[in-house]
Amino acid sequence: MLAEIADIGCDRRRGGYSRHVFDGAERELRGWFADHAARLGLDTETDRNGNVWAWWGTPGPGAVVTGSHLDSVPGGGAFDGPLGVASALTAVGALRARGGTPARPLAVVVFAEEEGGRFGVPCLGSRLLTGAIDAEAARNLRDPEGVTFAEAARAAGLDPARIGPDPEALGRIGTFVELHVEQGRGLIDLGSPVAVGSTVIAHGRWRFTFTGQGNHAGATPLSDRRDPMLPAAATVAAVRRLAAGVPDARATVGRLVPSPGGTNVIASTVDLWLDARVPGGGTQALVDDITAAARAAAADEGCALTVRQESCSDTVAFDDRLRAELGGLLGGVPELATGAGHDAAILAPHVPSAMLYVRNPTGVSHAPEEHAEPADVERGAAALTDVLEHLCR
Ligand code: GLV
Ligand code: MN
Ligand code: MN
Repeated sequence: MLAEIADIGCDRRRGGYSRHVFDGAERELRGWFADHAARLGLDTETDRNGNVWAWWGTPGPGAVVTGSHLDSVPGGGAFDGPLGVASALTAVGALRARGGTPARPLAVVVFAEEEGGRFGVPCLGSRLLTGAIDAEAARNLRDPEGVTFAEAARAAGLDPARIGPDPEALGRIGTFVELHVEQGRGLIDLGSPVAVGSTVIAHGRWRFTFTGQGNHAGATPLSDRRDPMLPAAATVAAVRRLAAGVPDARATVGRLVPSPGGTNVIASTVDLWLDARVPGGGTQALVDDITAAARAAAADEGCALTVRQESCSDTVAFDDRLRAELGGLLGGVPELATGAGHDAAILAPHVPSAMLYVRNPTGVSHAPEEHAEPADVERGAAALTDVLEHLCR
């Protein structure tokens, strides 16, 4: 089924896909999803936060909900998100073919802006649904072009005033299950095509803004410079050095934007985004150490520094009972912890939630090389079908 969307949102410059919430490609994918859902006899609705729900049966409490997201990171792979949505549609088709009607409402959901690739906050749709982000703060998020989330939502046909917690939509979810391509090498090492999720690591994003003095690259002696690129570079090195001292920590600078950004211009500001993830409760301590190193480097160059947290999520353990139930149902498949974030982890504090992972033969993800073998994709969809049938009883 992913072949049907292989041409949507190709990124010719970066390779892979760039599909961001409410942009042309993501809207085309929403149309693809609605068409598929209609062919399966599902009724589709978009909630106040831009999440799309396709219902089999009357929407209401106790529903079994599955799904994932259709947006990508910049230059991302074909599977992260769309595999969960396509597998959900495949599973519904398989259940229809098995005959009978689920005893509970069943829905396939597509969450908005899971990657935070446009507005910076990951899992924005599920955070809004559950009230994990303040609605006004979300409305005021800006994309790199300066467009606010409220403006983008309005252009997509939503009412920005209604963005925010949606207890009615949340209250309908009895159980949530998200299928996702694995984003590491866990299933290769375990020798299994499918696993049940156990935990999701704590993760957050911080924006560091270094301010110096924009100036002429040729006419300004080195001794007269306040170049924010220097503390930014020192901070990138400190991130790796300090994270290496914390067991199992991951810390990344994947985006750094000098302004104005000219080859012959000393930057006036540099924005740098830190993605930090430490199992348990250690993320803030690592970020504090990185911040101290950044402040010292900024002071050495006569630059100012501001640090702002853009998102933060605690470690999540999925529902014990549901994990055991699904593991048993699937013949004792292994459990797997992940360093990737997911909408299922945002929902988990509110409703029993679970994840199924499908093996990734290279472990590469958030890159065009991300892959899952067709046979494993089929096994994943078959596992999801069995899980949904079981939960709908
Ligand atoms: C999403 O895939 C994330 O973990 O950043
Ligand atoms: Mn992702
Ligand atoms: Mn994902």
